[in-house]
Amino acid sequence: MKFFIDTADLKQIEEAQALGVLDGVTTNPSLMAKEGIKGEANIINHYKAICEIVDGDVSAEVISTDFDGMVREGEALAALHPQIVVKLPMIKDGIKACRYFSAKGIKTNVTLVFSVGQALLAAKAGATYVSPFIGRLDDISTDGLHLISEIREVYDNYGFETEILAASVRHTMHIVDCAKIGADVMTGPLSAIEGLLRHPLTDSGLAKFLEDAKSFQ
Ligand code: G3P
Repeated sequence: MKFFIDTADLKQIEEAQALGVLDGVTTNPSLMAKEGIKGEANIINHYKAICEIVDGDVSAEVISTDFDGMVREGEALAALHPQIVVKLPMIKDGIKACRYFSAKGIKTNVTLVFSVGQALLAAKAGATYVSPFIGRLDDISTDGLHLISEIREVYDNYGFETEILAASVRHTMHIVDCAKIGADVMTGPLSAIEGLLRHPLTDSGLAKFLEDAKSFQ
């Protein structure tokens, strides 16, 4: 399973990259706003800065909701850097734009996916990635992980190449469960990734090894 970090915070991206397990980055307008990125030039520079830190795909989301606007924005984003993936909302014009970009060989990520039907449509439109939002489904007492397993089943039935990018990952167990189900990618915060490191037996075991190693001196 690929690990993407879901942030526009350059320091966190650098930290995840330094760990050596990062395969890409996802951003969205809320995450960009959180970093205080304003104005076209700053937005462009920020995406370029992210691409310089990581080796893998970097999702940059359009804010237009009509086909022409999405095509215009998406082409400009894709031209910024070869690692840019055009992120499109799961709406009618988003699907049309997805087909347009797929036909041109430009990578896409269809976002705000909350049902198997939406994921099926994204795959039919040739999406590179589909982003079902686990955490937001959990927030409304619906099983987000179950959606991942249903999409996995449907994609495997027909050999769709669209990668399931489990998004809105909120904590470490989401990552572990996504890996068990067979999500192709997960995108989450650095804290959830770092949670995979922790086990009290590792800590106590290391403390004992270091204590015993004192006898070497
Ligand atoms: O990748 C989508 C993600 O950013 C949404 O996460 O935590 O806002 O539901 P969240």
